[in-house]
Amino acid sequence: MTETDVIILGAGAAGLFAAGQAGQRGLRVALLEKTDAPGKKILISGGGRCNFTNLGAGPGNYLSANPHFAKSALARYSPADFIALVDKHGIAWHEKTLGQLFCDGSAKQIVAMLRDECPADRVSLTCDVEISQVERGDDGSFTVTAADGRIWRAPALVIATGGPSIPKMGASDFAYRLARQFGLKVVEPRPALVPLTLGDEDALFRELSGVAAPVLARAGAGKRKTEFAEAALFTHKGLSGPAILQISSYWRHGEEVGITFLPDAASDWLIATKRDRPRTHLRTLLRERLPDRVADALADRLGLEREIGNASDKELRAAQVQLADWRFAPNGTEGLAKAEVTAGGIATAELSSRTMEAAKVPGLYAIGEAVDVTGWLGGYNFQWAWASGFACAEAL
Ligand code: FDA
Repeated sequence: MTETDVIILGAGAAGLFAAGQAGQRGLRVALLEKTDAPGKKILISGGGRCNFTNLGAGPGNYLSANPHFAKSALARYSPADFIALVDKHGIAWHEKTLGQLFCDGSAKQIVAMLRDECPADRVSLTCDVEISQVERGDDGSFTVTAADGRIWRAPALVIATGGPSIPKMGASDFAYRLARQFGLKVVEPRPALVPLTLGDEDALFRELSGVAAPVLARAGAGKRKTEFAEAALFTHKGLSGPAILQISSYWRHGEEVGITFLPDAASDWLIATKRDRPRTHLRTLLRERLPDRVADALADRLGLEREIGNASDKELRAAQVQLADWRFAPNGTEGLAKAEVTAGGIATAELSSRTMEAAKVPGLYAIGEAVDVTGWLGGYNFQWAWASGFACAEAL
């Protein structure tokens, strides 16, 4: 049996970072990982360059049943703090767009950095651990037993096993099962940052597979209503691209999504163009502003096949309105297999927003994606992993 100060389950972004921080505070850490290597999602993130944070990351960029929960941790470990760490390790980076920071080189540098931050004499990483049992003794200490009989015991246990998105990488609902075992509630998990699928009524758009266009995409009802101005990508199953991935986190089954195809056009652009260029066709105008295949599909749907000078203002207004708020009725998402993250998770109501410790179970902590805090696309999820890992390590 290995006696230690803290056991961290999962050597992903949050677990690796928390292990380093706890180790630097002098704690002995057993970091247990199910797969054969740490940080696998980091390695594939950001197309292999890891979008490791976002300059603008703040509580407003996260979904959670309690939108205030992430505030404390995000305030105490900011994007600037992580950038300082990246700089300390001499890792070159750049801002790609919208505050998104990527390595110039490779995501491997971030994993190497996180490992280097773990003091060798304090943090012991064990991979290929199949956890068969986690128990809490009468003295409040936690015992973790592996399938091969190895046992670790510590007064503190950190759940950092992430969410179940991308199961082919070993992701599972382990965090939720463990939380439930200790009586903690779990907010219904669902795929987020995920492509949406379209039914037969939108089949026309499936023919555009591979074509992208800049749009304003909207989803959600009431307080959840949100819009993002980024690219949408048509796929053979439906819709993807950054704008769609963003709104997918807000979308719920049965709801429509709204797409503005010409987000920069004035609301009366078609009627104004009719006065200046009456001999032009709608298809031509759309082709001037959008990829040809998208323009053609929209023109086919709108059905205005004559010169716009011969169309009534009413018809043109109707086309303008439809282009500004094209409704799609997704019939689902591509699911956890394709979801960049899982929304929902261990209920924030169970955890201290300052320390990530479970109120009901002293010594038990949960950090990262396992918790019901889900970031937008663009480096926000890693920032949450760092910030929640930091908050937890400070409290251990
Ligand atoms: P994470 O999933 O990183 O780590 C969990 C760890 O626990 C894994 O190593 C897993 O193997 C291990 N584990 C699971 N079950 C276990 C068990 N029973 N016992 C022991 N270990 C167990 N975010 C971002 O901000 N910028 C980006 O560029 C990207 N890009 C991106 C691309 C792709 C393809 C995906 C799938 C995701 C992203 N993300 C992202 C999201 C980001 O990767 C994610 O939010 C964080 O990795 C979450 O960090 P965690 O440490 O919580 O989980």
